[in-house]
Parts: sequence; C-alpha cells; structure tokens
Amino acid sequence: MPPATERQQLMMRRPNLDGLPRLVVPSGYALRSYRRGDEAAWAAIMNTGIGSDWTAERCVEYLTGQPQFRADGLFFTTVGDTAGPAIGSACAWTEHPDERDEGLVHMVCVLPEHRGHGLGRVVTLAVLRYMRQHGFRSARLRTDDWRRSAIRAYLSLGLEPLYPPDAAPGDDHRARWAAVIEQLGASPAPGTDGA
Ligand SMILES: CC(C)(COP(=O)(O)OP(=O)(O)OC[C@H]1O[C@@H](n2cnc3c(N)ncnc32)[C@H](O)[C@@H]1OP(=O)(O)O)[C@@H](O)C(=O)NCCC(=O)NCCS
Repeated sequence: MPPATERQQLMMRRPNLDGLPRLVVPSGYALRSYRRGDEAAWAAIMNTGIGSDWTAERCVEYLTGQPQFRADGLFFTTVGDTAGPAIGSACAWTEHPDERDEGLVHMVCVLPEHRGHGLGRVVTLAVLRYMRQHGFRSARLRTDDWRRSAIRAYLSLGLEPLYPPDAAPGDDHRARWAAVIEQLGASPAPGTDGA
C-alpha cells in the first residue's frame, strides 16, 4: 500500500439528484444560508473536525472570497431559530468556477456537542437540494476512510463510492471501500468507476 501521502482521499458520487428526501430539521435547531459575518462561526465549526487554524480571514481566502462562492449555497444549522448560534455547516461548491454540471459537497462539519442529532445529514441534504434547484445534474465529494459518521450520512443520502482511475499504484479504492463498508456494517453500495 502506498504511504498515506500518496493515497487519494476517498470519493463519493451521486449520479443524479433525483429523489432526494424531504428536508426535516430536528426540533431545537434551524437551518439557514450564509449571512455576512458568518466567517468566524464557520471557522470555529471547522476547527473541530476539518483541519485546524481556520480563522475568519482564512475562511474569506478559501471560501467566501472565491468565485465559486454562492451565499445561498453555504448552509448553517443553528440552535433554536435562525438567529441562534451556528453549530453546523456544509457548502455547495464546484471544482471550477464555471462548472454547472457536477457539484461538490464541501466542508461538512458539526460542533461535537451537537453531533448525533441528524444535523450532518441535514446540511448535506440542504447542499444536494440546492444543487438540484440550481440545475446541477450530479454531486460528488471527497472524504477519508475514518470519517465513519460522515460516510454513513452520505450513504443514507444516496452517495456511492467512486473508484478513481488515476489512483496511485497500490492505492486500491475498492479494497479501501470494502473495509469501510465492513466496519460500518452497512449494505455495500455498488459504486462506480470514473473520476
Ligand atoms: C460528519 C459529521 C458532520 C456528522 O454530523 P452529525 O450531525 O453527528 O451527523 P448525523 O447526526 O446526521 O449522523 C450521525 C449518524 O446518524 C446516522 N443517521 C442520521 N440520520 C439518518 C438517516 N435518516 N438514515 C440513516 N442514517 C442516519 C448517520 O448516518 C450517522 O451514523 P453514526 O451513528 O455512525 O454517527 C460530524 O461527525 C463531524 O462534524 N465530523 C467531523 C468533520 C467531518 O468528518 N466531516 C466530514 C468531512 S467529509
């Protein structure tokens, strides 16, 4: 097996955006899209699960200041109503600013004390529904073998393993996915070839 640095992240894809479930926000929480000044809250959320050292400034550089950024495609779950503190987030993104066919589910994270209430699934579903409403035909995402809760939520929303053809020799995504699925005790999704 190649060293971790040469291993690509796992990929998942939803080949279409049909039949998405209804979006039901768990009681005690609300869902809204980006408002000016959300960058610090976004950074605080991401620092608990996706990388580190996020700041409001880095959020502008990486996300909200980029040409791909759409305010109505960056979602937050909040405590209470939509004026409450933001505690979860996910973003509709694209690999390239002019991409209109395949969306990327990006930067999904929920504060640890609010995990396990279905909010990760809610923000991911909000992104998928946004993509469908905006004419995208499919969605993909990158994740890591050990992100079990995330993968479980993604599988429940119809995302399937994708096996990249350009993986490094020995970086066997079918084997990695088989291990993930076995650990999850989930029914294996068929998966597709392609990048
Ligand atoms: C991944 C993450 C966002 C999930 O947030 P969460 O709010 O706890 O997720 P949910 O409550 O929606 O889902 C939690 C679990 O319930 C399951 N679940 C919830 N609703 C479900 C449904 N309707 N059908 C099936 N499963 C469901 C999920 O599949 C998941 O399984 P688990 O028991 O293994 O955790 C959160 O763990 C996190 O922030 N992790 C760190 C960052 C990260 O890994 N992000 C993903 C990057 S790709």
